[in-house]
Amino acid sequence: MRSKIVAGNWKMNKNIAETEALLVELSAKLPDTTAEVMVAPAFVNLNAAVRHLESSAIEVIAQNMHFAESGAYTGEISADMLLSIGIDTVIIGHSERRAYFGETDEILAKKVTAALAKNMRVMFCFGEELEDRKSGNHFDVVESQLKNALFSLDAQQWRKIVLAYEPVWAIGTGETASPEQAQEMHAFIRKTIAEAYDNSIAKNVSILYGGSVKPANAAEIFSKPDVDGGLIGGAALVADDFVAIIKAI
Ligand code: PGA
Repeated sequence: MRSKIVAGNWKMNKNIAETEALLVELSAKLPDTTAEVMVAPAFVNLNAAVRHLESSAIEVIAQNMHFAESGAYTGEISADMLLSIGIDTVIIGHSERRAYFGETDEILAKKVTAALAKNMRVMFCFGEELEDRKSGNHFDVVESQLKNALFSLDAQQWRKIVLAYEPVWAIGTGETASPEQAQEMHAFIRKTIAEAYDNSIAKNVSILYGGSVKPANAAEIFSKPDVDGGLIGGAALVADDFVAIIKAI
């Protein structure tokens, strides 16, 4: 069965003192939940975060990684580096990586393959831009993002995949997809996977929604049958908001 997940993507926010302060508060306020709870602080703070959460149910994950094993890639981080500090889940394909750092489907496919080769879990992000939705192309865009990065994986590899559907027009904008829009797309994603593979892979993959999830809208979005949780940006930076979103699941 697929798991419920609430993950906080802290992006380029919080220095070390702020990271520790937020983790202290989160740990103290963490509600009882069967959902997996994850946080993705900035790279420089990951090691401290892992140590801090050693005896906590909160998992520390990475926001990105490079596809190469090692070598002359100034400024980059490898899978082995993450694993060596106890991190085995990585976000790949966030729309900000695609938009500002030129990450194409081809690069993302290489990153996914590299992470899976190290037995890491991949939280793969994808989603259409506003123009795609306006022109009615959103299903095609999402299908091709999935196909290009993930449809050469085998059934075994799919067990390590978590999907995060994040319509770009809803990220950090305060505008959320309606629960119906999220459900419609999540159901389409499952159908697309079922057609490319089979029903059991489609049924067992967790599909998170991301894009301006807040305490006020989380419960309704999470109540949809094909929404298995959320990838949270802005609201993950405030302990009370993130905790309220965890409670909503
Ligand atoms: P947001 O970000 O919640 O601030 O819209 C979501 C994300 O980028 O994952």
